[in-house]
Amino acid sequence: MRRFPEGFRWGTATAAHQVEGNNVNNDWWEWEHREGTVCVEPSGDACDQYHRYPEDLRLLGALGFDNYRFSVEWSRIEPEEGAFSKAALDHYRRVCAECLANDLEPVVTFHHFTTPRWAANDGGWHDARIVDRFARFCERTVEHLGDLIGRACTINEPNVVAYIGYQVGAFPPGILDADLWRASYENMIAAHRRSYEVLKAGRGEFPVGLTLSMSDYQPVPADDEKAIATRDTIRYFAEDVFLESCRGDDFIGVQTYSRTRVGPDGQLGPEEGVPVLVMGYEYYPESLAATIRRAWEVTEHVPVLVTENGIGTDDDEQRRRYVERALHGVLDCLDEGIEVLGYTYWSLLDNFEWAFGYGPRFGLVEVDRRTQERRVKPSAYWLSSVVRANALSDGSPG
Ligand code: BGC
Repeated sequence: MRRFPEGFRWGTATAAHQVEGNNVNNDWWEWEHREGTVCVEPSGDACDQYHRYPEDLRLLGALGFDNYRFSVEWSRIEPEEGAFSKAALDHYRRVCAECLANDLEPVVTFHHFTTPRWAANDGGWHDARIVDRFARFCERTVEHLGDLIGRACTINEPNVVAYIGYQVGAFPPGILDADLWRASYENMIAAHRRSYEVLKAGRGEFPVGLTLSMSDYQPVPADDEKAIATRDTIRYFAEDVFLESCRGDDFIGVQTYSRTRVGPDGQLGPEEGVPVLVMGYEYYPESLAATIRRAWEVTEHVPVLVTENGIGTDDDEQRRRYVERALHGVLDCLDEGIEVLGYTYWSLLDNFEWAFGYGPRFGLVEVDRRTQERRVKPSAYWLSSVVRANALSDGSPG
């Protein structure tokens, strides 16, 4: 057996818009219903977790996990500028309390892709006023929930929000503009720094950090100088600027799904012979270890928490193999002396995968789209046994 250190954290993650249902007051809902976007279907009732959270938390607790990462929906808590909903805040207080009742530490994300319509329509992330607006939302929310929070994540994958929203056009605001892309970067970094301070100063005592989408950026050919230089430039803007801004934080959230191959003239597609997943990227579980090492190095040794890692697949056995390989990578990093605090599987439930809709299935638990019934998959029972043993068998993973 290869053992994880004592106190290693085991969790699963979701985000409000992907599971709650009927988040009608944010930019994503508007985007899903707008003509001409690439969204394949709207989120609708999602997994109705807004009402079914007690069942989901019971289930997760019974599997032996010790934390649940979820996000609070800004557009519910502050439906119009400066108008805060006590009922919505009370709801999230109940969710935190229910986590604790199931021996799950609440890991709360304050921004996971969605922005209230009033803020999105009034400049969104490319307008500097968002920094104060987001800080005020964090301040009010932590005043209400802070004593129950176990860990806080400020902004989820700011690099993805900025890149897909301003360079690719598959996420709102869908404005392809390099200046606005740069402005959104600056504002997100400033918002992370401000909210970090606000959350540390507010009610409760808990670690605070940012969660970043990372990829194992590989030059092709591996020793080609131009490919290495191109890789470094792409990776700098995709990741390093954010990692550098997180130096000194309590932790850095690493979120990894695959690798990115980069040739001398730019990004390449998948390598021939490597399976490609429904998300369009390669099956490549080894990327987790590579990104943990990278985050540790660039942040100058901020403790790493894997806040997302997983696979969208209909083949649950492939999921088990993917996680097993990724976890061997985590153990390698621990052996090298990197401080890895824990592992969070994305996702607890099959849920709304943004522009892809309900096609990709990342869940450890299946959700019947008609009845909302939950069914635990075999991979969940397997991961549960790893969690309970806090160890992985030595055998070479498939
Ligand atoms: C996001 C999740 C998403 C997952 C799988 C991450 O980019 O934080 O919201 O569902 O990856 O694609």
